[in-house]
Amino acid sequence: MSLLNRRVFFGASVGGLASAFLAGHGSVARDEPVQIAPPPRPAIEPLQANLLPQDTLFLSWQRDPTTTITIQWLANETTENTDIRCVPRLGDKRTTGKTVTRPWPKSNLKVYRCELTGLTPNTEYLFQIGKALQAYRFRTMPAKATDTIQWVSGGDCGTGTHAIGTNILAAKQEPYFALIGGDLGYDNGISGKTALAFLRNYAKHMIDPKGRLIPMVTCIGNHEVRGGYKRKREDGTFYLPLFDGLYKDTTYATLDFGDYLSLVLLDTGHVSPIDGAQTEWLGGVLKERQDRPHLIVVNHVPAYPSYRNPGSSKGGVLDLIGLGGSSGTGAGNRKHWCPLFERYGVDAVLEHHDHTFKRTHPLKGGMQDKYGVPYLGDGSWGKLRTPNSPEKRPYLAKVSKAYHMTVHRLEGDQRYHVALEETGRVADVYATFGKRPAKRG
Ligand SMILES: [Fe+2]
Repeated sequence: MSLLNRRVFFGASVGGLASAFLAGHGSVARDEPVQIAPPPRPAIEPLQANLLPQDTLFLSWQRDPTTTITIQWLANETTENTDIRCVPRLGDKRTTGKTVTRPWPKSNLKVYRCELTGLTPNTEYLFQIGKALQAYRFRTMPAKATDTIQWVSGGDCGTGTHAIGTNILAAKQEPYFALIGGDLGYDNGISGKTALAFLRNYAKHMIDPKGRLIPMVTCIGNHEVRGGYKRKREDGTFYLPLFDGLYKDTTYATLDFGDYLSLVLLDTGHVSPIDGAQTEWLGGVLKERQDRPHLIVVNHVPAYPSYRNPGSSKGGVLDLIGLGGSSGTGAGNRKHWCPLFERYGVDAVLEHHDHTFKRTHPLKGGMQDKYGVPYLGDGSWGKLRTPNSPEKRPYLAKVSKAYHMTVHRLEGDQRYHVALEETGRVADVYATFGKRPAKRG
């Protein structure tokens, strides 16, 4: 395609991308009070009219991140064409995609979704929505890990100033994608306004220094679900209609990236019980992936908490809200999942919910073991608590009271996990390599 034709196709340079994202406004988040009974189902909530696609536009994946991309946004119903036109930034092969809409529950907005398939790995693309002139930029994941691959993770964001600060810091790292391990906006399945504010912040700030939109991968947390634990799919009121491309039938899934990385995304008992079908599935998918160079598990409630009491499986009313028994304490993870992580050589578990920075020792059966599994995270993208000390919780290697997200860098068989505080200060650098234990050392 000639330069002239490219201008006609896109009608606008990508240099002006940033200005299109300046219209969003965050709202200040607060922790929701603990409630014994699930709150009533929300009625229709009139949300902001006249949203532009770029106000909530975000990318995600439903399948192969090397050859597909899913483009989504929220807006009022329109009769205008919203299909996607896409072209490589340095190439001619155009792709088009049909945009489908569906209601966003309890609101006057629709979810717009378009999946582009048949893309070329490790390639930059430009796309436009309908006849709009604004062009957006993204890149597909490499199929082979021939170069450094960098992405970011964290959890427990909310919509406040610290969440925005961490968004800005994360985007600066030029990550291929951002992995949010549950508790995105804290909508609790009842506040569309909060879920919308989260997306507005993401759309506004999660653009890398080259103007590329940063795809978002998520797993479900308690604050995505009305009632938090042991609920039904429809209680993930605002979350699942956005992410059910990946979580079509279950609230757990895998994403495999080329020949180098597999993510296993789990539900810590919010919609799917930890034990039973999910654990059976987990055993199968880990077994199939045990020789992958980088095998990473992501779940919201930590097996090894830094703030909460690790707890026990007592059940009862408090169990239902995640305070007393197996829900929300990690007891279920430790009983059903950790033995599988250890058996199949999971390289790291990313877990959150406790609102601190933490890294455990490599653990086997809860004890430090050089061939064990490290647990990283604890969810302080935008929420904060004071952690327990490693003296009180010997499984902890490092903790701090700091808003943070982690930069993961894959180089060959080496993994670097660099935790960055909101200010940019390095909280921790942790490196592992190879597969454990047989192939390691
Ligand atoms: Fe949580």
